[in-house]
Amino acid sequence: MSSSLNIGIVGLGTVGLGVLKVLKENIELISRRAGKSIDVTSVSAKRKNLDRGLSLTPYLWFDNPHELIYSKNVDVVVELVGGGDGVAREICASALSIGKHVVTANKALMAEHGVELAMMAEENHVQLNYEAAVAGAIPIVKVLREGLVGNHINRVYGILNGTCNYILTQMRDSNRQFQEVLAKAQELGYAESDPTLDVAGIDAAHKLSILSSLAFGTRLSFRSVEVEGINDVEFLDIQFAKELGYGIKLLGIASLNGNKISQFVYPCLVSVNSPINHVEESFNAIVVSGSFSDELILEGKGAGAGPTASAVISDLVDIARGTKVPTFGVNVENLIGLDVDSINDRFGGYYVRFTVVDQPGVLAEITSILRDKEVSIETVVQRGRSPGETVSIVMTLHDTYEHLMRSALQDISKLKFVVEKEKVFRVEKFFG
Ligand SMILES: NC(=O)c1ccc[n+]([C@@H]2O[C@H](COP(=O)([O-])OP(=O)(O)OC[C@H]3O[C@@H](n4cnc5c(N)ncnc54)[C@H](OP(=O)(O)O)[C@@H]3O)[C@@H](O)[C@H]2O)c1
Repeated sequence: MSSSLNIGIVGLGTVGLGVLKVLKENIELISRRAGKSIDVTSVSAKRKNLDRGLSLTPYLWFDNPHELIYSKNVDVVVELVGGGDGVAREICASALSIGKHVVTANKALMAEHGVELAMMAEENHVQLNYEAAVAGAIPIVKVLREGLVGNHINRVYGILNGTCNYILTQMRDSNRQFQEVLAKAQELGYAESDPTLDVAGIDAAHKLSILSSLAFGTRLSFRSVEVEGINDVEFLDIQFAKELGYGIKLLGIASLNGNKISQFVYPCLVSVNSPINHVEESFNAIVVSGSFSDELILEGKGAGAGPTASAVISDLVDIARGTKVPTFGVNVENLIGLDVDSINDRFGGYYVRFTVVDQPGVLAEITSILRDKEVSIETVVQRGRSPGETVSIVMTLHDTYEHLMRSALQDISKLKFVVEKEKVFRVEKFFG
C-alpha cells in the first residue's frame, strides 16, 4: 500500500457513529479494496462527554470543527452534521477552499449550495462526494454520474423519503389516519420529533433536485421543485384508490421536456401492479431510463446508520483510489440552465374526491362543468346513497392539463351542494 488516507469526521450522530463502526468492523476489507489504509484520525461533535457507546480514545478530539479541517492529519473531511447552512456549509466550504476532499451525507446542503461547493472543489482540484445524500445505501449518484454516462436520460423518479413511505404503507395496512400513524412512527423512531422536512416533501425535494441535475446535466435548481407533502392524504382516499386499482405513494418526478425540466414532489396514484407500488415500509426506490440502458429500478434502504455509512464509505474508497469525477457529472461551467415547467402545465390523469350533499342533479352539474372545460371523466364511484346526507363522489379524469382541471374544480367548488374542499391527487401511469 502506498500510504494512508486520513479522515476527519465532523458529526458523531446516527451516521457518524455508523461510519466509525463499519470502518472498525471492515477495515481490512475496505483498505484492501481502496488500495491504501483508511484511517480515522480526528473527530468532532458538539458534546465531548456524551456516551456514544464506543470509545473515542483512538481519535484526536476537536471541540471546534473548524480546527479539525486545518489539522495536518486530515486529508478528507467527512461532514455528518446536517442542515443546509451553518456549521455544515462553513466546514465544507473551508475544507474545499484549502484543498481537502469532502464527503457529506447532507442533501439539504447539496440541494441548496451544491453548485457553489462544486465550483470550489473544481478550483481546488479535490473531490466533493455525496452518495449518502440521496437514498442512503442505493448507489444512485454513482449510477447516474458514472454507470449511465453514455445515455440520454429523460426522466428519473422514485420514492425518496422512507418516513413518508412508511406512513402511507401503515395507513393502508392498519386503516388509520395520517396523524395517528405519524405519532406511532415517531414513537418507533421512524419519524423525527419535528417531521416537517419529511412529511411536507421537502427532504424528497432536496434529493430530487440533486437527481435532476445529475440526470440532465442541468444547474441544480432546488427552489423550482414544486412540492406537496402527505399531510392531506386521508385513509378514505387510500381506500378509494385501492378500489380503483391504485396505491398512493409520495413520488419525486423529474423530467426533461425539450428545453424545459419539470421537478415535482407529490403524493400520487400509481397502478397497484407497478413495481413502484410494491416498494413498502421505509424502503426507497429510484427508477431511471437511459436511452440505451433502458429502465433500471433500484430499491433499498434510504436511511439508518448501516445503509448510510455504507454509502459514505464508498465515497471514501473512491477518493483513496484517486477516482476523479465532476460533482454533478459535468464541470460546473458546462451545467445547463433550463427553464422549469410549472405544475399548471402538467398533462396527466387525476383523482378527485368531492364531498357533496346527496341530492338529485349533483352528478349532472359536476359533469357538465367538466365537459365545458373539456375535461373528460374516466370513472365515477359513489358508494351508497343517503339523500340529504353528505357523501363522497370520486372521479378519475382522463389525461388533461392541470390548469384546465383546476379551473373546472374552481367552478365546481361554488356549487351549493359542495360541502368541503375537494381532494385532488395526480395519477401517474408509468407502466401503462
Ligand atoms: N440518519 C440517517 O439515516 C441519514 C440518512 C441519510 C442522510 N443523512 C444525513 O446525514 C447527516 C447526519 O445525520 P444524522 O442522522 O447522523 O444526524 P444526528 O444524529 O443528528 O447527528 C448530528 C451530529 O452533528 C453533531 N453536531 C451538531 N452541531 C455541531 C457542531 N456545531 N459542531 C460539531 N458537531 C456538531 C452532533 O453532535 P452531538 O452528538 O454532540 O450532539 C451530532 O453528533 C445529515 O445531513 C442527514 O441529513 C442521515
